[in-house]
Amino acid sequence: MIRDTRGRPLEYLRISMTDRCNLRCRYCMPKEYFDSKYQFLQRDAILSYEEITTIVDALLDLGLKKVRLTGGEPLIRKNVETLIEFLQPKVEVCMTTNGILLNEKAQDLWQSGLRNITISLDAVDQPTFQHMSDSKIDINKILSGIELCLDMGFKLKLNTVIQRGKNEHATKDIIDLFSGRVDEIRFIEYMDVGETNGWNLHDVVTGSQIRKKLGNLKKLENQDQSQVATKYELNGQIIGFIESVSKPFCSTCNRARLSADGHLYTCLFASKGNDLKSLLRMGANQNEISKAVKTIWSKRSDAYSEQRGEESKPKVEMSFIGG
Ligand code: GTP
Ligand code: 5AD
Ligand code: SF4
Ligand code: SF4
Repeated sequence: MIRDTRGRPLEYLRISMTDRCNLRCRYCMPKEYFDSKYQFLQRDAILSYEEITTIVDALLDLGLKKVRLTGGEPLIRKNVETLIEFLQPKVEVCMTTNGILLNEKAQDLWQSGLRNITISLDAVDQPTFQHMSDSKIDINKILSGIELCLDMGFKLKLNTVIQRGKNEHATKDIIDLFSGRVDEIRFIEYMDVGETNGWNLHDVVTGSQIRKKLGNLKKLENQDQSQVATKYELNGQIIGFIESVSKPFCSTCNRARLSADGHLYTCLFASKGNDLKSLLRMGANQNEISKAVKTIWSKRSDAYSEQRGEESKPKVEMSFIGG
C-alpha cells in the first residue's frame, strides 16, 4: 500500500470513459460553453480499454480496491461492458450514469458482471428535470430505466445535487418515489467544480439545512470514513449526504481520477493531471506505470475542500474528470 504526504492510501480510482454527455446540466456543462464549437477529445486521444486495464493493474499493485466508471456520460462510450468484463474479475467495479441509456444498456451491463449503479437524478418531475439538465428528454425514460434495473436486481444509489430555489422539492419527491427500493438516496451539496458553472455559495443548500426540512433522520453509527456520503436513516431508507462544501472530507480522501485522455488527477479540483497515456504510448509496462503512480501519490498533498478560498488556480471541468 502507498501513502501520500498526509498518510492517505490510494484505494479508489474514478475512470472517465468520455468527456461527452447527452445532457447539459447547467451546473456541469452549461450550453454557453459546451456548444457545437467546444473541442471534445478526439478518438485517438482517448485511452483504449486495454490501456485502462494496464493502468488499473498497475494501481492494484499499489493497493487499489475499487473503480468507478464515470464520464461525461459513461454509457455513451461504445461497448463499455467490454471494459467491465476486463476489470470485474480483478476489482470491484461501479458506475455513475445519468440513466438515459439504461433501458438499452441494462442487459449488457448485467451480463458484464456489473451490479452497482449510481444514477444522477436531480428531479422526478418534467419541468424541473428539464430546467436542471437543459434538455427536452422525457424524465420517464430515466425513471423506466431505473425500474428496469430494480427489477433485474441491480443495487442502486441515487444522486441528487440540490441547488437553492431550483430543485429543493426534489428531496421529498425522490424519497416518496424510491424509499424502501434503493440502497441509498443521496443529496449532494452543489460544489465549485470547474470554471464554467458560475458557482455561488448562496446556491448551496447544506446537508444540515436539508436534514432539518426532512426531519426524523437518525445518523448511522460506525460509518466508513473513506466514503464521501454521511449516512442517515429515514423510515428504514438510508439517506446519504455529501457535504463537501460545509463538511469537507479531504483528510480521508483515498481517490485518484483518470481522465478519458489518460491523465491521473490526485484531486477533483486539480488544475492539472499527470500524463500516463504518453508513458503507455512510449512503451511503459504495468510495472513502470506502477512506479510512476507511486511517485505521484507519494508527493500528493491535495485538500482543496478543506482549503477552499485559500488559493485560486484554474480547475478542471467536472464533465471532463467525472466527479
Ligand atoms: P461511493 O463512495 O462508491 O458510493 O461513490 P461516490 O460517492 O464516490 O461516487 P459518485 O459518483 O456517486 O459521486 C457522488 C458525489 O460525490 C459527486 O458529486 C462527486 O463529485 C462527489 N465526490 C466523489 N468523490 C469526491 C471527492 O473525492 N471529493 C469531493 N469533493 N467530492 C467527491
Ligand atoms: N456539484 C456537486 N455535484 C456535482 N455533480 C456534477 N457537478 C456537480 C457539482 N458542481 C455530480 C453529478 C453526478 C456526480 C458524478 O457528480 O450530479 O451525480
Ligand atoms: Fe452530464 Fe452528469 Fe454533467 Fe449532467 S452532471 S451534464 S449528466 S456529466
Ligand atoms: Fe479529495 Fe480533493 Fe475532494 Fe478533498 S477536494 S476530498 S482532496 S478530491
